[in-house]
Amino acid sequence: MSDNLDFIAPVDDGEEGFLIKPEFKPKSIRSFVIRAGRITVGQKAAFDTWWPTYGLSLYKGMLNIETIFGRKAPLVLEIGFGMGDSLLEMAKNEPEKDFIGIEVHPPGVGKLINNAGKEGVKNLRVFMADAMDVLEDCIPDGSIERLQLYFPDPWHKKKHNKRRIVQPAFVQKLRTKLKNGGVFHMATDWQPYAEHMLEVMNVAEKYVNLAHGNGYSERPLYRPITKFEKRGERLGHSAWDLMFQHC
Ligand SMILES: C[S@@+](CC[C@H](N)C(=O)[O-])C[C@H]1O[C@@H](n2cnc3c(N)ncnc32)[C@H](O)[C@@H]1O
Repeated sequence: MSDNLDFIAPVDDGEEGFLIKPEFKPKSIRSFVIRAGRITVGQKAAFDTWWPTYGLSLYKGMLNIETIFGRKAPLVLEIGFGMGDSLLEMAKNEPEKDFIGIEVHPPGVGKLINNAGKEGVKNLRVFMADAMDVLEDCIPDGSIERLQLYFPDPWHKKKHNKRRIVQPAFVQKLRTKLKNGGVFHMATDWQPYAEHMLEVMNVAEKYVNLAHGNGYSERPLYRPITKFEKRGERLGHSAWDLMFQHC
């Protein structure tokens, strides 16, 4: 879908707007809720203008990272960038690295590519797709320097815990995508999820916790406060960062 925008269609209910469809394959358990894919005329314009520059498609298969960015540079991958403000800030702050973001929420993707385009950011590309599928089909093994998962959906209720993205099988899939020495960096503001992440990661094969005493890490300077985190702060939430290196 990368260039032709055939994933956007006008609504047929007489209202203004367009329907948009993120890419995902059938799955029994998802880490996200599929929301009504409606975007405004303004958001459609952002896709028309900037998708050909920044968009990557699940259906184009395994990426050749050097060809995409036209250089050899450390690669940062972010899963679930939300509205994209913090990912854009990091891409601008670390121009010597290349960034790929994955998000299923179309308005967030539209906002990110619109802002990146206006600011002329060159070291960023995005998938509008399920990260599970992208990891499986598009990301070469051993290619990622830093994997970012900031404030993933917490799935508070016990019966929904199985939808949490951090699970033993998922972190092993991620590990195959990390370079040796690469870092998987998570953050959450939901303490039971932080404890779950720690429990899963501290026994995960071929990962070492970068924090003293196998606990939580300080927020590193490169990670801005995210939009979701700011909302949590207003409600009095704390945040926990976890950093694990692939060894
Ligand atoms: C709670 S929000 C946090 C957004 C952002 N990281 C922040 O801190 O502001 C979690 C985001 O992850 C996205 N997400 C969840 N599962 C995903 C998946 N499998 N693939 C891509 N995005 C996903 C959701 O659409 C949502 O925007």
